[in-house]
This record gives sequence, C-alpha cells and structure tokens, in this order.
Amino acid sequence: MSFTIAIDGPAAAGKGTISRAVSEHFNFAHLDTGLLYRAVGARMLGGEDPTRAAETLEITDLERDDLRSPEVAQAASKVAVIAAVRAALVDFQRAFARRSGGAVMDGRDIGTVICPEAEVKIFVTASAEVRATRRFLELTGKGSVGTLDEVRARDERDMTRVEAPLKPADDAVLIDTTTLGVDEAVAQVLALVQARLDG
Ligand code: DC
Repeated sequence: MSFTIAIDGPAAAGKGTISRAVSEHFNFAHLDTGLLYRAVGARMLGGEDPTRAAETLEITDLERDDLRSPEVAQAASKVAVIAAVRAALVDFQRAFARRSGGAVMDGRDIGTVICPEAEVKIFVTASAEVRATRRFLELTGKGSVGTLDEVRARDERDMTRVEAPLKPADDAVLIDTTTLGVDEAVAQVLALVQARLDG
C-alpha cells in the first residue's frame, strides 16, 4: 500500500516536528526534503556547481554534520530557485513518496508539485516573529533557524521564486502554530490522516 502525507510550510513552522510524530505514529517512512536542498547548498559553498551537485547527490551528502547551520540554510534556499536543481531531485522524492508502507514528506512544494496526488496535504504556518524565536528546532537537532531577518529573507526567496514557490495546495488543510501547541497540532494532523485511512 502506498499512502503519501505531504507536509509543507515555511522554516520553523513546526512541520519537521509534526512530520516525525506522524511518521512514528503510523510507522510511515519520513523524508525531510529540505535536507536534499541543504546538501546541494553545502556542496555549492564548497565550490561546486549546484546543478552538478544535485545531479550527483549521494546518500552520504545527507549525512554531513554541517547541514543545519544558518549558512547552509541560506545556501539551500538559493540553490532551490534553480530549475535544473529542482528537476534533478524530483524522481528520488516521488519514488520515496510512493514506497509501500506509507510516507511522510515534508518540504515546500510536496503538495503542489512533487506529490499533487498525496492522500493528505497539510500546510503548516506561523508568524515570522514566532518562527524566528522558536527554540524547539535546536532542541530536536534541526539547528538554529537564524535571525528574524534571515527567516524573512528565506521566506521571501522561497515564496517568490518562479519554480515551485512555497504556497499551500488548493486542497491543503492549513495549520497555524503561532499559538497552537505542538501537541495540539500533531493531534489535528493525526486525526486528519486517520480519517483518510478509514476512508
Ligand atoms: O526545510 P528546510 O529549512 O530544511 O529547507 C531549506 C531550504 O530548501 C528552503 O529554504 C527552501 C528549500 N526547499 C525547497 O525549495 N523545497 C523543498 N521541498 C524543501 C526545501
């Protein structure tokens, strides 16, 4: 059985935390697609052409320990505007999404571009101020999200790019974690997925 849950949204809105909780609850595989762009960004900072880096990306690139730094986050957002970079990463993401046993995919364009047929689509958002001051990303090993200016710069780039801009799919359920606690947000998503699984 394949069953895809698409969880999109801006940095530090809580999609990683929600995705991990949902994948554990249903025993689905989880792919943090931001890691792919971070790995390409890290290789670009090392002097490589980003398109070539995306085309030759390897699993070991995803295990680098510098992927969570604010510098790599900005580099990821910069390489993510390049159409050829995005194109090189599509097949891997779609194959992961359709693996048997279910998959949770978190990113920016999963519900709109990578998996428009996903069984469940969620868009997690929160105000930029709240996201910039959130510490739970650091606590869960996601690294620092950066300053308010950095968060805003990345949002702006991610939302205004031509290729696969960050935006909710028309049929996505919006979850705003500005005031909602993580537990409540997770409970809402679990209920949505369970309802879809029950048909
Ligand atoms: O989710 P993240 O913060 O690790 O993502 C880092 C950058 O990668 C983000 O600013 C934009 C890009 N990205 C993307 O364009 N599409 C995705 N599906 C995931 C991330």
